[in-house]
Amino acid sequence: MDLQLKDRTVLVTGGSSGIGLATVELLLAERANVVACARDLGRLESALAPFGGGERLAAIACDVRDTAQVEALLAAARERFGGLDGLVNNAGGSRMKPRSEVTLNDWRDELDLKFSSVLNTVTAALPLLRQSPAAAIVNINAVLARQPDPRLITTSAARAGLLNLSKSLSIELAAEGIRVNSVALGLVDTGQWRRRYDESGVAGTYADWEAEIAADRGIGLGRFGRAEEVAAMIAMLLSARSSYVTGATIDVDGGVGRYV
Ligand SMILES: NC(=O)c1ccc[n+]([C@@H]2O[C@H](COP(=O)([O-])OP(=O)(O)OC[C@H]3O[C@@H](n4cnc5c(N)ncnc54)[C@H](OP(=O)(O)O)[C@@H]3O)[C@@H](O)[C@H]2O)c1
Repeated sequence: MDLQLKDRTVLVTGGSSGIGLATVELLLAERANVVACARDLGRLESALAPFGGGERLAAIACDVRDTAQVEALLAAARERFGGLDGLVNNAGGSRMKPRSEVTLNDWRDELDLKFSSVLNTVTAALPLLRQSPAAAIVNINAVLARQPDPRLITTSAARAGLLNLSKSLSIELAAEGIRVNSVALGLVDTGQWRRRYDESGVAGTYADWEAEIAADRGIGLGRFGRAEEVAAMIAMLLSARSSYVTGATIDVDGGVGRYV
């Protein structure tokens, strides 16, 4: 099926690793124009180099928590590609801390990264998205938004706020034909989990460690997700093939979500 993304322009935040990187790769394969950002420009450029995006790819340094940097990012996207059709709010990382260890600054940082940054980016992108004939926003979220885990209390709360915000935005922007959807992730094998494995000091292989966690968390499919599996859903939600889908939350979680 042709996703009809050719010549559409999509901004992917957090494009240097994991889900963001897989999304950039897929969008380029669909011959979309892609603006990818991350804080570390060197890492972003070397991660994207194998894709050979050429004229279709712009890699830009941006910390999505900084409003001025986000505005500059959108200005660069407009200058380079003349507009914007899709926005993937993906930048982030997890904060594995129980309430007893969380400081007030941790709470502020987490809300800044997982909530305010999305609001910043959507606000800055809206003038361009409004000019697109088929605009779509995809907010990367987590099953934690609906199924909180006390080991990740700040992430769970911030994700719940983002889910609520996404629904409000979808209702408001539907009148302008701009679709807003969320992808709720379970556990996906990316840099986040590789870093945790390295820090854990466990003796076994990554595969053993992953299988143990998958069993412990009750992941129905018995394994972590792969970044490509998430990217495929993101591309579908960006595509005009999903033209009647807005305000939805699609779980890409291997069955770990237990809510209905
Ligand atoms: N993997 C999972 O199991 C899982 C589960 C639930 C939700 N998620 C969410 O899915 C998204 C992608 O996660 P991932 O697993 O692919 O993570 P990842 O491999 O660690 O990649 C994170 C990306 O975000 C960028 N980033 C982080 N902070 C940023 C900031 N302030 N401004 C701009 N870019 C920033 C990173 O680059 P720089 O460090 O250079 O900025 C990197 O490109 C995140 O929002 C994460 O919370 C992941």
